[in-house]
Amino acid sequence: MPTIVLSLGGSVLLPDIDRPNIKPYISVLTKISSIHRLFVVVGGGGTARQYISLARSFDADEAFSDEIGIMVTRLNAMLLIGALGQAAWPSVVTSHTEALCAAESGKIVVMGGITPGQTTDAVAAVLAERVSADLFINLTAVDGIYSADPRTDPSAKRFDTMTPCELLSVVIGQQAVAGVNTVMDIVAVKMVERCGIPLFVMDGRDPSVLDSLLESERPVGTLVTNDGKIPFPLK
Ligand code: UTP
Repeated sequence: MPTIVLSLGGSVLLPDIDRPNIKPYISVLTKISSIHRLFVVVGGGGTARQYISLARSFDADEAFSDEIGIMVTRLNAMLLIGALGQAAWPSVVTSHTEALCAAESGKIVVMGGITPGQTTDAVAAVLAERVSADLFINLTAVDGIYSADPRTDPSAKRFDTMTPCELLSVVIGQQAVAGVNTVMDIVAVKMVERCGIPLFVMDGRDPSVLDSLLESERPVGTLVTNDGKIPFPLK
């Protein structure tokens, strides 16, 4: 059975506690897990940023703020497990090895953050390497990787396909502080470069787009790969 690791941004799944987008994900994740070994790494979203800014108002250092962020990612992960019900391994795993063991159950394995100084994209990228994933998918609040921030720069262009090395040059120069919302963290990109597993970055705000991976040759998004092979539709 092919293996997929999904990095599901908190800004996609639960932008805010009163704007959940969890339910629409249940059927598509369950469908994918019937034909793939599936791991989902959940982000912290707006709630993590709110907690982190509160911690900073008490002069907390960045590593402490990261720990707060990790707790929120795990809280979101637990919520997703509750929504998935029997389809999911019943607890939030807290290490890559634990994820590998839990996957023996055949259920969807869900986790959040692990270590200060990174984001859940990095957790997912390391997991992709650890579980020998066939594909690493990053579901985020933009529809791919752009040459610049499309929210502030109208001349920004979306890449259809790029190499990990090219992605690295896009992310170098991003800020590295707790709660910052960047295209992808540098640790994640270094991992993608190291393991050579294809990465697909796509807009996750509409869960039906994920569904289209099962049908379509080439959904909208950026494929990061060294060999240019298109890994769709998922079989
Ligand atoms: P996220 O992975 O959610 O970061 O972790 P994000 O870039 O805000 O992603 P979205 O918005 O969910 O898509 C939230 C914060 O938790 C801490 C970091 O401070 C991060 O910014 N964190 C998370 C860690 O320190 N280590 C981890 O392994 C994961």
